[in-house]
Amino acid sequence: MTVRAALVGLGFATQELKLPAYLAATDVVSVVAIADPDPEARKIISERLGLPASACFSTYEELLNTADVDYIDVSTPHLTHLPILTLAAERGVSVVCDKPLAMSVAEVDEMIGVTERSGIRAGVHHNYTHFPSHAEALRQVRAGALGHVDSVTMTAHSVYAPGVMPGDEGWRGTARLAGGGILMDYGIHLLYLSQHLLGPTFTPRTVTARVDKRRIRPEADVEDTVTVHIEGEAGQTATLTLMWGMGTSGHTIVDGETGTLQIRYPDMLSAQHNVAEQIEIVRDRLDAPTVVPIDWERFPLSWYYGGSVRAFATYIQSGDATGVATLAEARATISLALSAYESVALDRPVEAPLSPSSPLYSIGVTGVHKLELAADNVIRRRGLYQPAGAELGDG
Ligand SMILES: NC(=O)c1ccc[n+]([C@@H]2O[C@H](COP(=O)([O-])OP(=O)(O)OC[C@H]3O[C@@H](n4cnc5c(N)ncnc54)[C@H](O)[C@@H]3O)[C@@H](O)[C@H]2O)c1
Repeated sequence: MTVRAALVGLGFATQELKLPAYLAATDVVSVVAIADPDPEARKIISERLGLPASACFSTYEELLNTADVDYIDVSTPHLTHLPILTLAAERGVSVVCDKPLAMSVAEVDEMIGVTERSGIRAGVHHNYTHFPSHAEALRQVRAGALGHVDSVTMTAHSVYAPGVMPGDEGWRGTARLAGGGILMDYGIHLLYLSQHLLGPTFTPRTVTARVDKRRIRPEADVEDTVTVHIEGEAGQTATLTLMWGMGTSGHTIVDGETGTLQIRYPDMLSAQHNVAEQIEIVRDRLDAPTVVPIDWERFPLSWYYGGSVRAFATYIQSGDATGVATLAEARATISLALSAYESVALDRPVEAPLSPSSPLYSIGVTGVHKLELAADNVIRRRGLYQPAGAELGDG
């Protein structure tokens, strides 16, 4: 029997990316209800799904009070994830939520508590682990193709996101709504991917980060450029560089004891989220690389959330949680992102995991203003991460 899902939040992610995944997974899951305050978004999705007006709600509260569903799939701005998960848990409805799961580590702790007490099943769309490129890289690494993994280097250059470039509107440029800039947005994907590639032995010890804001809309108070360097025990490292902009390119290099793996994209218009051509593994500079071709079509876009949607629906159907990213994984990822912001504020490496005594642990990125920022700190210079009620800085 197929499970019954409801989609909450029907904006960019759902319209462009998530709907194709649900339309390709009707053997395991049926979307039976939707919720969004925007009537235009409800119209678009209800028409594509053929849903009656009685299955379309303007609030998640109405949906959860009325519709008979096994789980909700949440694609709303991150600030709303905690209240939505909490009400669903009270109603005994399971939840899969988009990344980043929450704005702070304390919020994730609350979500984990609520989930455990209610007995619902919960997961997070860390969907890039299911992409053919990264799934194959993970298979190679886990099969020992590189020996012990020493370092992961990932980039995502000039990635476009709605709501950040000059002339755009939306919550992504506002720290108190988005929890940070590109690091809390696209960077979350690189954080969990690098953790997976480094494997279960990876235990982060220090995080060093740099941010800047150069090209996005002037009134935004988030970073558009970030480099994060994470050092773990036994010398393992992850180095991630991301920028928002109007193109896209990116790469992944995994260095191991006995080989180096690289995901190859066909052109400069391919980043981590685009179609990769092949994986190359070099073991000796005199030997030709081992080439693993990747069979992957750009359209339809059902692959984008496909693996993650299918994994969660299967979990609800059968209890098999294979491929479902846990709230604990999201917690580790958000903790690293916030450690990076703390490193920017203190202008030095900081210890990981983020300490519960850090203001960022409890209130997220805007907590940087509770730390002692040097007069020339980039957060001051660029007017970043303003708490609610603050005037934007001079950035
Ligand atoms: N996993 C991925 O690859 C991926 C890709 C894109 C976006 N996302 C995530 O999806 C989420 C949404 O991003 P987006 O780009 O679609 O944003 P968006 O602004 O385009 O869409 C958000 C939608 O949520 C609706 N909404 C706001 N508050 C709501 C509420 N209380 N109840 C119901 N609906 C509400 C809005 O009306 C809007 O239609 C974010 O957390 C983002 O990080 C993830």
